[in-house]
Amino acid sequence: MNEINNNPLQNNSENFTIKAKSPEESSAEVIVRMFPSDANPAGNVFGGEILKHIDMVAGIVAQRHSQSNAVTVSMDSVNFIKPVFVGNVLKLNARINYVHNSSMEIEVRAEAEDIVTGIKTVTGTAFVTFVTLDKNGKPSHTPKLLLKNDEDRKKFEEGKIRMEGRLKHRKKSNT
Ligand SMILES: CC(C)(COP(=O)(O)OP(=O)(O)OC[C@H]1O[C@@H](n2cnc3c(N)ncnc32)[C@H](O)[C@@H]1OP(=O)(O)O)[C@@H](O)C(=O)NCCC(=O)NCCS
Repeated sequence: MNEINNNPLQNNSENFTIKAKSPEESSAEVIVRMFPSDANPAGNVFGGEILKHIDMVAGIVAQRHSQSNAVTVSMDSVNFIKPVFVGNVLKLNARINYVHNSSMEIEVRAEAEDIVTGIKTVTGTAFVTFVTLDKNGKPSHTPKLLLKNDEDRKKFEEGKIRMEGRLKHRKKSNT
């Protein structure tokens, strides 16, 4: 019996062509509250907890852009600039900067808000590379990026340079 896969994210690409999109169209914002189970006994939120949310929001952008399944292949330039504390509201903003064949670079910025004082602090940044997969789990075409303004063009060029660096690093670490 043939199984029917009803997951739309694993059932794409053969049936329709995904149009190019601007970075704005796929951008995402996620807001989460930090609880004691997310932190060490002193109240500092674990880096791994923040990474989980970074990966999650970047995945939303990647799948919105590709309208397909997409997985993380690398995370780099992860900077925890300031601490995040229990009780803070963590806001993560993510946008796509660069697209190659199947891969794409997503930039994430994390900001913590102290609800009582209203003070907002940029606490972290990261770049996450995703790869679009077809229904067989193989890398497949990622839709092109529509660069609408100078910021999009600048981020695309910078993303291209970073991606070239990643591939050099990948080659080195695989030999
Ligand atoms: C995604 C996956 C199928 C790619 O397989 P692969 O054999 O590396 O495929 P390729 O060598 O053809 O690379 C596919 C694309 O990924 C890019 N890529 C692979 N590793 C990369 C890395 N470390 N950094 C940046 N880009 C990378 C390649 O440059 C290529 O991009 P392009 O198509 O735009 O030119 C495979 O690596 C995989 O399944 N990884 C696990 C993904 C996962 O489970 N993530 C969740 C976290 S564990």
